[in-house]
Amino acid sequence: MNNPPLIEYRNITVCRDEYIALESISLSIGVGEHVAILGPNGSGKSTLIKTFTRECYPLLRDDASLRMLGKDVWNVFEMRAMMGIVTNDLMSAVTREFDFTGREIVLSGFFGSVGLWPYYEVQPYMRTKAEEVMKMLEIQHLGDRQVTQMSSGEARRVVIARALINDPKALVLDEPTTSLDFKAMHELREFMRKVAKAGTTILLVTHHLPDIIPEIERVIMLQKGRIVADGPKREVLTAKALSGLFEMDVDIEEHNGYFHIW
Ligand SMILES: Nc1ncnc2c1ncn2[C@@H]1O[C@H](COP(=O)(O)OP(=O)(O)OP(=O)(O)O)[C@@H](O)[C@H]1O
Ligand SMILES: [Mg+2]
Repeated sequence: MNNPPLIEYRNITVCRDEYIALESISLSIGVGEHVAILGPNGSGKSTLIKTFTRECYPLLRDDASLRMLGKDVWNVFEMRAMMGIVTNDLMSAVTREFDFTGREIVLSGFFGSVGLWPYYEVQPYMRTKAEEVMKMLEIQHLGDRQVTQMSSGEARRVVIARALINDPKALVLDEPTTSLDFKAMHELREFMRKVAKAGTTILLVTHHLPDIIPEIERVIMLQKGRIVADGPKREVLTAKALSGLFEMDVDIEEHNGYFHIW
């Protein structure tokens, strides 16, 4: 029997207030597949992610289903073990209100929280794992530093380390290069390549074509809550398709496996 897809949407419609943010979305992403999602502001990209993280709820319809590894129902703990999530909401949560160290943020991934609280029982294996992940991301030096005293690139790596602490099947990144300088952007892309090559699915939402690392072979385009293209990146990423998607004339060029738009 074939392995079930990591995520499978069938006829998923999501309303946010009165607005239809996603309309009859059907798509399936396999384990180990790497996918980029493109679309203008407000097209529903973050809603698509928030639907499987259970922050947004689809309309209950007989013909609709949302499955993770073949299961219709999963709880938030199962989701966390499966998906490492890095969003800008999480980035703001990390630096809001409390001032935790990098290590505390990374460890908090075990508890699904942002930061550690005195009643959490941090086990020795958790500390060992946190050190391992921080080493892999080359952020050991940030372990004792307060997050509010980190640059946005450093804080983002800490949040990525937090997402990877449970060895998830997928790393889900919603606009991860926002506010990063060229070097931090480059390093993050190289890091995504490392994760992808290690067999973890990369599910990336981005506005920057060069974020689509060579390992990502599939691109999905969203417009006004609907999928308007879904296929191999070299077939989907055409000047015509991008011009239609963003409603402006653009040109596109591929260079060393990366795509650029102007
Ligand atoms: N908290 C909310 N309450 C009501 N409507 C919302 C909320 N968040 C988003 N929306 C609406 O849902 C639609 C889809 O929003 P979503 O955040 O998924 O878009 P996006 O493609 O991620 O956009 P961006 O590129 O700006 O991040 C938009 O029309 C938006 O205005
Ligand atoms: Mg968004």
